[in-house]
Amino acid sequence: MKIISRFIIVVLLSISASSFAFKAKENLHKADSTDNKTVNIIETKIDSLIGIMTLEEKIGQMNQYTGFWDVTGPAPKEGSAATKYDDLRKGLIGSMLNVTGAEQVRALQKIAVEETRLGIPLIIGFDVIHGYKTVSPIPLAESASWDLEAIKKSAEVAALEAAASGINWTFAPMVDISRDPRWGRVMEGAGEDTYLGSKIGVARVMGFQGDDLSSKRTIAACAKHFAGYGFAESGKDYNTVDVGTSTLFNIILPPFKAASDAGVATFMNSFNELNGIPATGNSFLQRDILKGKWNFDGFVVSDWGSIMEMLNHRYVATGKDAAELALLAGSDMDMESHLYIEHIADLVENNEVSIGLIDDAVKRILRIKFQLGLFDDPYRYCDPNFEKETIGSKPVQDAVLDMAKKSIVLLKNEGNILPLEKSGLNVLVVGQLARDKTSPLGNWRLGADNGTAVSLLEGLQKYDGNNYTFIEGPKMFDEEFSFPKEIKINNNDLTGLQEVIRAARNADVVLLAFGEHAFQSGEGRSQSHISLPGVQQEAMEEIYKANKNVVLLLHNGRPSAIDWADKNIPGILDVWQLGTQSGNAIAEVIYGDYNPSGKLPMTFPKSVGQIPVYYNHKSTGRPKLPAPDEVFWSHYTDIDNEPLYPFGYGLSYTTFSYSNLNVDKVENNKVTVSFEIKNTGKREGREVAQLYIQDVVGSVTRPVRELKGFELVNLKSNETKKVTIQLTENELGFYNNDGKFIVEPGDFKVFVGGSSKTQLEGAFKLD
Ligand code: BGC
Repeated sequence: MKIISRFIIVVLLSISASSFAFKAKENLHKADSTDNKTVNIIETKIDSLIGIMTLEEKIGQMNQYTGFWDVTGPAPKEGSAATKYDDLRKGLIGSMLNVTGAEQVRALQKIAVEETRLGIPLIIGFDVIHGYKTVSPIPLAESASWDLEAIKKSAEVAALEAAASGINWTFAPMVDISRDPRWGRVMEGAGEDTYLGSKIGVARVMGFQGDDLSSKRTIAACAKHFAGYGFAESGKDYNTVDVGTSTLFNIILPPFKAASDAGVATFMNSFNELNGIPATGNSFLQRDILKGKWNFDGFVVSDWGSIMEMLNHRYVATGKDAAELALLAGSDMDMESHLYIEHIADLVENNEVSIGLIDDAVKRILRIKFQLGLFDDPYRYCDPNFEKETIGSKPVQDAVLDMAKKSIVLLKNEGNILPLEKSGLNVLVVGQLARDKTSPLGNWRLGADNGTAVSLLEGLQKYDGNNYTFIEGPKMFDEEFSFPKEIKINNNDLTGLQEVIRAARNADVVLLAFGEHAFQSGEGRSQSHISLPGVQQEAMEEIYKANKNVVLLLHNGRPSAIDWADKNIPGILDVWQLGTQSGNAIAEVIYGDYNPSGKLPMTFPKSVGQIPVYYNHKSTGRPKLPAPDEVFWSHYTDIDNEPLYPFGYGLSYTTFSYSNLNVDKVENNKVTVSFEIKNTGKREGREVAQLYIQDVVGSVTRPVRELKGFELVNLKSNETKKVTIQLTENELGFYNNDGKFIVEPGDFKVFVGGSSKTQLEGAFKLD
């Protein structure tokens, strides 16, 4: 066995020993002769390897198991862990997930490389969603920065730490658009907007993958969950998805296409059915669109057990049928269903699936392994010294702190209660979350250790000119929690409230660290209530009676319905779950050393009953009140149509004004829009200038507004800058119901300003 293995390696190396420089896909296909040569060399290597693989070994490449000591989903079949080592030795595993650490990965890789017949290295996957050991804000929070460079950097340092710990593939970015804050996984995405979501998805892909996938500082990315997962009915995780073609083509698919165009190495399909067909068995999605129209040449991994779950969907009757349909539909790798390994050989031998399909899937998987440089050096990601010097290093900490500050959103600041003076104040800090060093790490941070975030209390200590009193008050959550289990919330015990109320009477300002624990959002954690959990609303109202100078530091992994707080509490900062540097970032914003600049990537409803409420809705046939007191228009009788905070909203410690909107040129479906923005306040600040269009009449009805451009503008007090944004056919067109991208002539409106509700309006016409 060893002799054959060495022989194969010699043949492969003789074709080329140079490592492969991965470029974004468009670069890869450029007529650059060096790149073409490298691509051809890899393709030749893949062909020669495929030529000597047995059917069993090919199926092995399509099989992915979770590690032996950790699971992120339902535990594997009993006893199966024991057989995994055997499978590994037989070459029946192409990938593992949830194995981390340079030493541990090296040990596994050694078996794959030295003990299997062909020595094909494993690709090691992990959910590096918003950081590995050092954690960035949850992705929804990062998205509130609208800062593509900072987001890219955040993914870059996450990749660096992960790569140093043996991981070479992350299951991120999640580019699922969602309009339902009840869905727990909104914390993992970029919010409700397709345009912003596409840009952020691409920034994350570029951050993870860099421009050289074979570098030991980068890892392969994975656009997930293909497709529609964010449209689960009633926001309940894993639920049915039934959407029309217009929503599918215009809202759900574009971020995936953008990731594919940017050269994302892999895709993950999803648990949900889409219009009656489970996504995992959906060849319209995976074959026609992804691998067909979009020409995607990486591989598709199933979601955890999603091939097997097609039985639960009652789409197939047997595991064998599930394997067959998933394969036919374009799912290349089976994550933890164990069905490919059980059934594909039979399916091929009985001519139910062709060997051509298997070869295509295996080639795709090998291609990424070659691009990662694993054939040149299977231990490239397994250097314990590099791991030690990288984890938690200064550049990583700096990047996550920068990201955390930029993610905070100032929702209300009546009477300029914020920023606080740095000395002479008696500050009362309330709430279990203020001392918590784990919840800020967010839900999807499997690699990080509990208790490693800087708490709010620790962050505040650096501003030692004020006098702090911390009283925890009523318990909010039970500190015994774990990733797969539900967290227990205190729904009735107000013990400790009276002590807070007494202290509040003597405080100059009260900082309320209230909101959700990180384990109230994330996978499997949808909620029917999105207001302050447990007894917090009642406690807040009582504390407010004792002292009106309250700042609510709102912790959340989703938009929250905080109508009462908005009406009463003077200061509200959305501090999400901000990661390892959380407390430092919040303190800097509270004291004005960082002027908040975040803007909401998702609408905040007043009440759950308004959901779905999103800015780019349609007009309907009855958009307006026809006459006083008549009911015949699209509305509720018990609440207005306006959300609490619209998409794109966020305040600053300074103010900005917009003027001189010009549509400068309309030529060949290219439009140049310019406008001026002035800092009209006293402090330096940063504004996210946003541009929306309305295509006034469409052959498929168009949304009332659509984000089509934005720019981050830093302005000193009184400074004015001109912003110019180009709109091309990419921004002006849309997909019709046949999935064809079209640009229609006619009138357009354009809006610019600091949120989706901006009123500064212009117009142009396309011929
Ligand atoms: C999730 C995926 C994740 C996978 C592996 C699944 O339950 O839906 O997003 O990447 O587990 O952990």
